[in-house]
Amino acid sequence: MKAGKTYYSCSECGYRTAKWMGKCPTCGAWNTFTEEVAEPEPKAGAPAHALFSSGDNHAVAYDKLEMPTYMRSKTGLGELDRVLGGGLVHGSVVLLSGEPGIGKSTLLMQVSDVLCRSRKVLYVSGEESGGQLKLRAERLGVKGSNLYILTETNLDRVMREVDAIQPEVLIVDSIQTLYSDRLTSAPGSITQVRENALALINRAKGDGISVLLVGHVNKEGGIAGPKVLEHMVDAVLYFEGERQQAYRIIRAIKNRFGSTNEIGVFEMEEHGLREVENPSELLLSGRPHGISGNCAVCTLEGTRPLIAEVQALVTQAPQPAPRRNSNGIDYNRMCLILAVLEKRLGLRFSANDVYLNVIGGLRLDEPATDLAVALALISSLTDRVVPDELIALGELGLSGELRAISGLENRVREAMRLGFTRAVVPARNLEKRKLDLPIELLPVKSIYEALRVLRKTDVPEKMESDE
Ligand SMILES: Nc1ncnc2c1ncn2[C@@H]1O[C@H](COP(=O)(O)OP(=O)(O)OP(=O)(O)O)[C@@H](O)[C@H]1O
Ligand SMILES: [Mg+2]
Repeated sequence: MKAGKTYYSCSECGYRTAKWMGKCPTCGAWNTFTEEVAEPEPKAGAPAHALFSSGDNHAVAYDKLEMPTYMRSKTGLGELDRVLGGGLVHGSVVLLSGEPGIGKSTLLMQVSDVLCRSRKVLYVSGEESGGQLKLRAERLGVKGSNLYILTETNLDRVMREVDAIQPEVLIVDSIQTLYSDRLTSAPGSITQVRENALALINRAKGDGISVLLVGHVNKEGGIAGPKVLEHMVDAVLYFEGERQQAYRIIRAIKNRFGSTNEIGVFEMEEHGLREVENPSELLLSGRPHGISGNCAVCTLEGTRPLIAEVQALVTQAPQPAPRRNSNGIDYNRMCLILAVLEKRLGLRFSANDVYLNVIGGLRLDEPATDLAVALALISSLTDRVVPDELIALGELGLSGELRAISGLENRVREAMRLGFTRAVVPARNLEKRKLDLPIELLPVKSIYEALRVLRKTDVPEKMESDE
């Protein structure tokens, strides 16, 4: 494309077109085209922005390849180290993304304070003044003996400082605020973000610098800028949580140096983010007792069991079209569970508004939490309480059958640790392997059976179905 000419590029797949389009013909995404200005072609012989293009690369026989040993630095926050796979790998590039005000800068300032004790750290901020950074750092109790702060948005000037200071860790807050004079597009545009990130990645790989990039999120919650940014970096971390609530979860979406299943849990306090080593206790604190519509569940985040509480509110709908609202549980999953309960148990939700919520802003993605959702819904509809000391586990099939789930023992042990005395579990899980644990296990084959077992084992005014 001729330099200076305007074109439109899809932020999902990078497809370019001269005309704006609503839907991308390549990847099918809607409203992803943004205006760009074509950059001049690089002159022949100019170094390409490719990571390993030294020019004299040759294929190597597999058995001659050396096994790398990754050096890692502890960040001082065990929960973050866990998500990174055991610490920050030297020479790696990590993208940290999250909603505005969630605590990205706070986290990175705390991490800088620990890392700078063993490695030279340069913190580049394009969003806040030195004074603002100092104010936050003082609040967090940062000592920062080997920590350098640069408030700058121009990439070339950042690179000059990197040359002068020779940091071992480079923090860029944020990649969207950086711009390069060599590109004509506006700061934050796809081209700027992609090219500047590439320049930083090349630098990191070349000099063994660990780079932590902050990435803004767009209004859909994805990382703003080109999708390719996520492919370019070694790890993508999402910082999430409800801003009104104190705790935050870090999740790895991608990690070339560790598992993506682990999560880290933090609590935001005046003196910064504090690790929560025992998140289940935090999630259960302030739990209401003896109220209908609540049911406890244990979800697995990686290898880590977390106890959560599902809350349902089923009320008579004032409108002919009832409302359905779900917070922390996939909306379609909720609709599916409602349909199973209507069809298999004959319960009527169609004249009711249904609201679902997971306490503490946690997101329950796995089907193992279906039974708890179903029991919470039935409990609210019938106004019968699910016993507080009971935990429900199991995936619900379309025929109302309960399917086996993974990690049952791990989940039940966590429930026991937190004082639960009874667990409704899928019978199929216990067919092959019996669990010998000091907790009352109630194996059931279907949702229907779950209700029967609950009715039998409970005091009469507790849960009963309308079967
Ligand atoms: N004095 C304070 N006491 C407790 N918490 C505070 C205090 N000041 C700020 N915070 C918390 O820090 C959060 C802001 O953190 P931070 O600036 O690190 O977020 P961020 O993700 O970098 O935001 P942005 O996207 O705007 O850069 C606030 O939302 C608030 O929860
Ligand atoms: Mg910030």
